[in-house]
Amino acid sequence: MKDIKKIGVVGAGQMGRGIAQVAAMSDYSVVMYDISAEGLEKGHGFIKKQLDRGVEKGKWDESFVSKTMANLEVSTSLDAVKDCDLVIEAATENKKIKFEIFKNLDEIVKDGAILATNTSSISITEIAAVTKRAADVAGMHFMNPVPVMKLVEGIRGLETSDETFDTVQAVSEKMGKTFVRAEDVPGFAVNRILMPMINEAVYALYEGVASVEDIDVAMKLGTNQPMGPLTLADFIGLDTCLAIMEVLHDGLGDTKYRPCPLLKKYVLAGRLGRKVGRGFYDYNN
Ligand code: CAA
Repeated sequence: MKDIKKIGVVGAGQMGRGIAQVAAMSDYSVVMYDISAEGLEKGHGFIKKQLDRGVEKGKWDESFVSKTMANLEVSTSLDAVKDCDLVIEAATENKKIKFEIFKNLDEIVKDGAILATNTSSISITEIAAVTKRAADVAGMHFMNPVPVMKLVEGIRGLETSDETFDTVQAVSEKMGKTFVRAEDVPGFAVNRILMPMINEAVYALYEGVASVEDIDVAMKLGTNQPMGPLTLADFIGLDTCLAIMEVLHDGLGDTKYRPCPLLKKYVLAGRLGRKVGRGFYDYNN
C-alpha cells in the first residue's frame, strides 16, 4: 500500500471543495486547485463556513477548525499539486476537459503518485489511457454533499494495480467513508440504478401520472428516501442527470435507458436545477 500524506484536489466546485474539506478534516495535507481564482475563493470560503457551522452545532471546537484550515492550501497553479501522493480530480464532467487535466497531471505530478478521478460516468480505463501511468489511476466517486454522504464508489480501470486500488480504499476509509467496489461500466453501480429511477420519475411527470410535488411526496414517504427523485434531480443538476442517462443509453445500447424528452426540454430551456434557481421547482422565492 502507498503512504499518502499529501492530497491534491483539482476543482473547487461543489464536489472538489467537499472532498478537500473531508481530506483536510482527516488530517491530510491538502492542496485545492482551480483554474478560477474566484471559484477557489468561493470554495475556500464555503469550507470555512461549513467548519464554523460545526462549531455552532457543537460537533467540534475552534481548535479543530484552525487545524483543518491549516491543512488546506489553495492555488490557481496546477504545479502546486506536483509533490502530492494522491491527486483527486473533480473538475467539470466533460471528457475533453478531464483528458486534458490527466495529461497535464501525468507530466507534472511526481512518479508513483496516484491519480484518481471523481467522474460519475466517464470510463476510468479511457481516462487512464491518456496517461503513462495507467496502473496508478483509479476512480473515487464521492456523493454530494461530500461531507454528509458516507459512500465512496471505487472503480478499477483495466490496468489499475492492486496497490493503487487498496490505497484509494484505505484513504476513503480514513476519510470516514464506506468503500464499495464497482466495475468500470457505464454509470458504475450508483448511477446505473439511481439515474433510471430519476428518469422514470420524469417520465411519470411527462405522462401525467402525478404532479411534481406528489411524485416527490410519494417516493419520500412511500419509500423512505430523504428527498423525492425530482428534488434530487434539481439538487444534482438536470444537465448532469441527462449527461449520465446519455452515457447509459449510448454505452449499454438498451432503449430502457432513453432519456425522457421532458428532461431534455428542461435542459434546453436552461432549467438546470437548484444551481440556476429553477428546475422542476422554482428556488427564486
Ligand atoms: N454540505 C455540507 N453539509 C450539508 C450540506 C452541504 N451541501 N447540506 C446539508 N448538510 C448537512 C447539514 O449541515 C446537516 O448536518 P447536521 O445533521 O450535522 O446538522 C445535515 O446535512 C442534514 O441537513 P438538513 O437538516 O439541512 O437537511 P436534510 O435532513 O434534508 O438533509 C441531505 C440534506 C443530506 C442533502 C439529504 O436530503 C439527503 O441525503 N439527500 C439525498 C442526497 C443524495 O442522494 N446524494 C447523492 C446524489 S448522487 C451523487 O452525488 C452522485 C452522482 O454522480 C450524481
